[in-house]
Amino acid sequence: MSWWKNSVVYQIYPKSFQDSNGDGIGDIPGIISRLDYLEKLGIDVIWLSPVYKSPMDDNGYDISDYRAIHPDFGTMEDMDQLIAEADKRGIKIVMDLVVNHTSDEHEWFQEALKGRDNPYRDYYVWRDPVNGGPPNDLESTFSGSAWEYDEASGQYYLHLFSKKQPDLNWENPKMRQDIYDMINFWLDKGIGGFRMDVIDNIGKVPDEKIVVNGPKLHDYLQEMNRETFSKYDVMTVGETWGATLENAKLYSDPDRHELSMIFQFEHIGLDEQENGAKWDLKDIDFVELKEVLSKWQTDIGDKAWNSLFWNNHDSPRIVSRWGNDKEYRVESAKAFAILLHFMKGTPYIYQGEEIGMTNTPISDISEANDIETINMYHERIEKGYSKEEIIESINVKGRDNGRRPVQWSSEKHAGFTTGNPWQAVNSNYTEINVEEALKDKDSIFYTYQQLVRLRKENPIVVKGSYTLLLPDHESVFAYEREYEGEKWTVVVNLSEEKETLELGEGTVSSIISNYSREEYDLKHVELEPYEAFAYKSKK
Ligand code: NOJ
Repeated sequence: MSWWKNSVVYQIYPKSFQDSNGDGIGDIPGIISRLDYLEKLGIDVIWLSPVYKSPMDDNGYDISDYRAIHPDFGTMEDMDQLIAEADKRGIKIVMDLVVNHTSDEHEWFQEALKGRDNPYRDYYVWRDPVNGGPPNDLESTFSGSAWEYDEASGQYYLHLFSKKQPDLNWENPKMRQDIYDMINFWLDKGIGGFRMDVIDNIGKVPDEKIVVNGPKLHDYLQEMNRETFSKYDVMTVGETWGATLENAKLYSDPDRHELSMIFQFEHIGLDEQENGAKWDLKDIDFVELKEVLSKWQTDIGDKAWNSLFWNNHDSPRIVSRWGNDKEYRVESAKAFAILLHFMKGTPYIYQGEEIGMTNTPISDISEANDIETINMYHERIEKGYSKEEIIESINVKGRDNGRRPVQWSSEKHAGFTTGNPWQAVNSNYTEINVEEALKDKDSIFYTYQQLVRLRKENPIVVKGSYTLLLPDHESVFAYEREYEGEKWTVVVNLSEEKETLELGEGTVSSIISNYSREEYDLKHVELEPYEAFAYKSKK
């Protein structure tokens, strides 16, 4: 079986992870200094968000040189050392591959700007104006038109994200080959693979307003695989917002030689209004959550492979989002961890999740840093939304929530930096921090550590079948896994209310319980708020 099916991934957002030189920005030497901690947690892979040279319009997702490290993060020697030091601890480094677009400061784009007959012009997507305006009404994910006018040449270029992130033209075979060479440059360094940023956009057909799942997407992925990944033993995970069960199979069926797995967001969109944007809030319905997560467990088939996650650098913190980050912070953080980590797929832990870091509310847009948040704020103010309403959405969904510095200790700035952090630390760091978590044997950290270990030691977690129990229960999420005559049952109360259930006869011993309860009477299971446990039985 492929190694990445047994692995647990930890995502690092480098700017906020650990600063080593007092400039207030996390860096690669800082990551190296925390590898022992990650080894203790038990993870196998680090997904490193971009550390490449970048003007940082979108915190590094706007790359100006794929083969250089941004000086804020360190040097190429630091990067080589990170790969080697991680390797010593059995940890692989997965780099972020951002190839839907580059920065406008990338030399390819700088060349392209020189004129219509520059050899790099066709590395990007250019169109003539239509009726004196943009070619069509395609919108950027970061608000406004997806087309930016270039006065010098009289043409528009496409940017599905910020105007400093021009889209690459995947129709161009020469551009594709340059990207493959760059991928091989990194693979030759011995990295463990790539997380592939908005990869479902690369087959776009802008004239037909097709931005995801374009007709040539899978051809490009197969070509990329042939030219690069197939020559190494690596994992590739595609960020695929628009994945369906059908195309999940196209992406990750090993016989098709595209990606190892997908990273899809269907469950993450459940707390937004239908036909709305992520900012249009709606309460989560746990019955719907069960339906969606279970569908991805059972209907994905035997060949395709999915990721398991609650958070990343684009999402708020799960404990604040669907749990309770006050009275039941510890219980609810553990409950969500237990719920996810016994499922089939490759789990991802986002930095700070393992200690139950929370969202950081703001009261004014001047406190925001993220380009998506800031652009949306101004767009909605213009459309007539009230400031209060927009700030509420930002506090629930904004990307800055997950991007605050990691809370390492109760020292100034949470031990993240000795200087001024680029983004303020959440004031709850004196209680919520790694040092405290490591001292407390009942901390969220040790629940994650135990979940990682249980997955490694028990093939049922990776290979077992999945059956949802109590599908209509409004707050208890329960399911069974079965493998070679053994059955594991996972029961999680997602509410602040006590719940009583009947799950069968007899008493069982728990494999894990966030209330440290060793035995459960199946005839009368009495669950405390956010209580979660799992037990084994014979099939
Ligand atoms: C998805 C990344 O996760 C996000 O942070 C970024 O802003 C966009 N892609 C654009 O690269």
